[in-house]
Amino acid sequence: MAEPFDIVIFGGSGDLAFRKIVPALYRAFGEAKLPEGSRVVPCYRGALTASEYIAEADAALREHLLEGEYDQAQASEFSSYLTPCALDIKTADARWQTLADLLNTAADRVRVFYLAIPPAIFGVCCQHLSEYGLVSANSRLVVEKPLGYNAASANAINDEIARYFDETAIYRIDHYLGKETVQNLMALRFTNVIFEQLWDAKSIDHVQISISETVGLEGRAGFYNEAGALRDMVQNHLLQLLCLVAMESPHKMKASSIRAEKVKVLEALRPMVGDEVFKHTVRGQYVAGNHNGKLVPGYLEELGEPNSSTETFVALRAYVDNWRWARVPFYLRTGKRMKQRSAEIVIQFKGVSHRVYEPSAGPLLPNRLVIRLQPEETIQLIMMSKDLNTLDMQLQPASLNLNFSESYKHVKSDAYKRLILDAVAANSSLFIHRDEVANAWAWIDPIIEAWQQASQPPHLYRAGTWGPDESDELLAEDGFSWFNSGEALK
Ligand code: BG6
Repeated sequence: MAEPFDIVIFGGSGDLAFRKIVPALYRAFGEAKLPEGSRVVPCYRGALTASEYIAEADAALREHLLEGEYDQAQASEFSSYLTPCALDIKTADARWQTLADLLNTAADRVRVFYLAIPPAIFGVCCQHLSEYGLVSANSRLVVEKPLGYNAASANAINDEIARYFDETAIYRIDHYLGKETVQNLMALRFTNVIFEQLWDAKSIDHVQISISETVGLEGRAGFYNEAGALRDMVQNHLLQLLCLVAMESPHKMKASSIRAEKVKVLEALRPMVGDEVFKHTVRGQYVAGNHNGKLVPGYLEELGEPNSSTETFVALRAYVDNWRWARVPFYLRTGKRMKQRSAEIVIQFKGVSHRVYEPSAGPLLPNRLVIRLQPEETIQLIMMSKDLNTLDMQLQPASLNLNFSESYKHVKSDAYKRLILDAVAANSSLFIHRDEVANAWAWIDPIIEAWQQASQPPHLYRAGTWGPDESDELLAEDGFSWFNSGEALK
């Protein structure tokens, strides 16, 4: 087994820690990936004693693990790895010294500092880590979105943490990159000759990348109402997926090569300014509607405010202006309270150049490669074939299916577990470089500025639908429609 390590979670009793980080570490422990002697040190403000913290962490595991995953004996063994530490990040007092003394009992081991705290206190946290002599060659800093509000604020955050940690020691999480099918997308592209030959403007008509959620605000009203869907989802998750679809092959699967290729894609995104923003983007906000037969409230009701023009839905058309992708539209879409929870990438190929079958054989649909990240992890190639039920020549779509959720039923994939263990192992290939953050904001900022200047209200859509009609119209203008595989492939 690997060497023991220490992971310190600032914001140890917060939402992110209890929902994602602690369950991820529990899973790592269950798979023997938390070497004996490793320490999980949640740091939190407040008066919880160590045993009270452990009881809360246990309750969080019961709540957030998947059905059947919680095991009393395993949870109790896991809790022996927890060394809770009450401290106020901003106040350099004896409690920081206690943390330092604790960590220094094993000064040579790998230390991961996970900042599950607001970016406004990243700086002071890093400063104290440095002042207490805790930043060593074996230290890694893990940070997570929201990394800023725009290019300038993201830059300021990155400058601040760079005063204490080298870029190579900073691990910026985008948890979408930890999803197994996202990595499979790279495997698919860079190990199969059949796709690479077709992966460009000559064969691909357009690309759809869509993340739809059924949840609403989930107790994050304050943050979300300031951010909106473009900042919350597009600036990071959707643009990262776009990069993985559009990038050139890195010369090796190593972090610096992958990041360099992603940055080139972000630089090639065609900027949208002024009126173009309104031509290529749709903002939406949900109103009350039905989801699975239940009435769910609208955004403003959930928010508890009569007015807000924050978008809970975005659809947009983007172009990657380079040789490979010239004139190929990339449609991105995301929203809360939509009809189904799904995340998928649809690569739609061009139609055949000449139809040889009579019209009576039925319509010829284009080939589609559908990479579904959730809820199931599948890759499907949709093709045309003959309907064998009839002697007549009747064409029908059929699909080649790779269903990872079925074949790997025993595997409990967890993006956070994989990313934390990657940070421990100093493997940064699935993390975001500051240049990626800067370039993504550089493309997003003018869109937000145009929206703010026009101050048009968002288009309303009923909860439990696929978003406002204008989102369908955006694709219809180009002769396309959204491919919701959860419905289309039933
Ligand atoms: C987060 C967003 O980054 O991703 C949330 O802040 C969103 O608003 C979440 O709900 C979606 O992640 P997943 O893995 O559930 O699709």
